[in-house]
Amino acid sequence: MTDLHTLANVRREYGNLYLDETTTLKNPFQQFKVWFEEILEQKKDDPTAMILSTVDKKGLPDSRVVLLKGIENQTFIFYTNYESAKAIQISNTPYVALNFYWPQMARQVRIRGSVKKTTKLQSDTYFANRPITSQISALVSPQSKKIENRNCLEEEFNKLIEKYAQKSITRPENWGGYSVYPEEIEFWQGRDNRLHDRIHYLKDHSGIWLKRRLAP
Ligand SMILES: Cc1cc2nc3c(=O)[nH]c(=O)nc-3n(C[C@H](O)[C@H](O)[C@H](O)COP(=O)(O)O)c2cc1C
Repeated sequence: MTDLHTLANVRREYGNLYLDETTTLKNPFQQFKVWFEEILEQKKDDPTAMILSTVDKKGLPDSRVVLLKGIENQTFIFYTNYESAKAIQISNTPYVALNFYWPQMARQVRIRGSVKKTTKLQSDTYFANRPITSQISALVSPQSKKIENRNCLEEEFNKLIEKYAQKSITRPENWGGYSVYPEEIEFWQGRDNRLHDRIHYLKDHSGIWLKRRLAP
């Protein structure tokens, strides 16, 4: 087993990639797309995985991985259960943070902003495109609630697989998307000697993105 002494010595240098004020694009969504294309080329698992942070009623932060499912009208979209712990936290405090970490390129993107449900049409369209097994698991899973055992999920799943064989499934009301409206986006590029690059975009009150470099 790794002891703490060994753990403290786990480190690496980051390589030759860099970020600067002149080569980053004016609009952070365009910049995100450039980085996203580059990470897709790496062909590694889960490039769309992002940490979604929320806060509960007591102000206690919470976080979990969700998958980015779209970038539309300057928002980042993910899908989930509208009765899950995260959904309850969002209904009380409609602000979230997203964090992408792409270790293959030593890159991190941090996003903070407000969040709203997507339109029903957007959720319906996305749901209709999911594989039937994912649609059924959305129907059977009372996400974040206590369940007695795994069997009850599997039994329900198998029942519905039979029931819906060859039939189309309507999106359940308690499942759908959220759009995150960023107010800040930071791009972090790991560099050698811990002198990393951080380019931070902040939306001003007139909706214009201001760009600045932050110390690593
Ligand atoms: C790689 C990965 C992708 C995931 N994608 C999603 C997702 O897109 N939507 C979702 O609701 N949960 C997703 N999950 C599960 C969540 O991390 C979490 O367990 C679940 O949403 C319940 O969170 P909550 O109880 O805080 O609401 C994913 C987990 C992992 C590890």
